[in-house]
Amino acid sequence: MKFTMKIKLIIKFLIIIFILIKKSQSTVFCPSKLRCMDETRLNCNNSLSAPTDFHCCDGFQCVPAVIPATDTQNQLNTTMCVASSSKQRKSKNKIQPSKTPPIMASSWSAATTYYNMSNGDTGWGYFWYDASHQAIRTDFYPICPFLQLYEVGIDANYIPCSVLFYQGQNYYVYPGVQTCCNYTFPAWQPDWLCQSNATFNGTVTINGRMADFWMIEWFSNFTGGGPVRNIRNMYTQVDSHIPIRFREDLDTGYLDFHDYVEGPIDQKIFTSVINGYSPCHQGHGHSGNTDKTCTRYNSQTLRRSWPCDNPTCS
Ligand SMILES: *[C@@H]1O[C@H](CO)[C@@H](O)[C@H](O)[C@H]1NC(C)=O
Ligand SMILES: *[C@@H]1O[C@H](CO)[C@@H](O)[C@H](O)[C@H]1NC(C)=O
Ligand SMILES: *[C@@H]1O[C@H](CO)[C@@H](O)[C@H](O)[C@H]1NC(C)=O
Ligand SMILES: *[C@@H]1O[C@H](CO)[C@@H](O)[C@H](O)[C@H]1NC(C)=O
Ligand SMILES: *[C@@H]1O[C@H](CO)[C@@H](O)[C@H](O)[C@H]1NC(C)=O
Ligand SMILES: *[C@@H]1O[C@H](CO)[C@@H](O)[C@H](O)[C@H]1NC(C)=O
Ligand SMILES: *[C@@H]1O[C@H](CO)[C@@H](O)[C@H](O)[C@H]1NC(C)=O
Repeated sequence: MKFTMKIKLIIKFLIIIFILIKKSQSTVFCPSKLRCMDETRLNCNNSLSAPTDFHCCDGFQCVPAVIPATDTQNQLNTTMCVASSSKQRKSKNKIQPSKTPPIMASSWSAATTYYNMSNGDTGWGYFWYDASHQAIRTDFYPICPFLQLYEVGIDANYIPCSVLFYQGQNYYVYPGVQTCCNYTFPAWQPDWLCQSNATFNGTVTINGRMADFWMIEWFSNFTGGGPVRNIRNMYTQVDSHIPIRFREDLDTGYLDFHDYVEGPIDQKIFTSVINGYSPCHQGHGHSGNTDKTCTRYNSQTLRRSWPCDNPTCS
């Protein structure tokens, strides 16, 4: 009697484990609500024959736009969503997007390679994500794509760094010069592709793998000098949440993921990079801070914005 109960318990346990493993491997997709492009989104298409995730949201119209060239971006002739006074025509035969974005795994890690499309520079590193710690760590070798060091001068920035998001803060750690910069910025959530209404822009082949291309591009107008293109494009393995490429920021670079592994990340992976530096330096000028070790702006990447504190000054 006791023995058969034990066997039953073990079988139950094994079934639960099996379900958990199945669950951790299968891809969950965003709730299939209407996704439209909000104000400032780029690459809209209000054509009735374009899927609805290309349409601007109600109250916005899709107009032609020319994004001027910068030292890291080519000129781009595209379209953008801007506020509209006229009512939009409603149509019954709306074309649904053929795919819904995936919800990313809540914890994963991968090796990375970095490619700078402006100058062909390459780099490598490692990536860790764990939503339970609100944490992302990315290590960049041999040079950091960010320019956060201020006092030591611009060329001193071209050394390895770790970029850390941890509990609402965003750190740039340069072990070679024993310096850490501390800004306030949250890590993304596993459902960030849902939150940002990512547009399905087709399937492309990357490193020999078929990937779904989730497009999120918008413009900002920091100085009134004209629109600047912001990019947060994600490529995931077809019909899965496995990341293949991430192309982010004002710069023309991207990060490729290799040897993807899911599973909880030891908290020390995140805390160890800032341990030994605390307190990290706050951005220069941040609430009257006169310490010039770190730049004022979070995620400063463009050489032309150095050393002035205005993102587009020369
Ligand atoms: C996403 O789409 C919804 C419509 O379902 C819209 O109300 C919302 O403003 C959009 N959000 C973003 C960030 O584009
Ligand atoms: C908008 O979408 C339609 C239908 O897919 C396509 O024929 C047209 O070329 C697109 N326009 C632009 C500007 O991309
Ligand atoms: C963008 O359009 C302008 C005219 O509006 C044209 O002169 C320019 O060559 C186009 N640029 C690209 C990259 O297509
Ligand atoms: C990429 O190359 C451009 C042009 O040399 C440079 O301005 C930019 O800082 C580089 N970006 C990164 C992330 O290294
Ligand atoms: C979206 O896909 C179209 C068609 O393949 C391509 O021409 C366009 O460049 C893509 N958009 C972006 C932002 O890459
Ligand atoms: C950028 O700002 C300037 C000045 O406020 C304005 O004239 C211009 O229309 C803006 N451009 C866009 C694309 O919003
Ligand atoms: C970073 O700044 C935040 C907010 O000012 C502070 O709570 C946190 O302790 C700082 N972290 C480190 C490692 O200095």
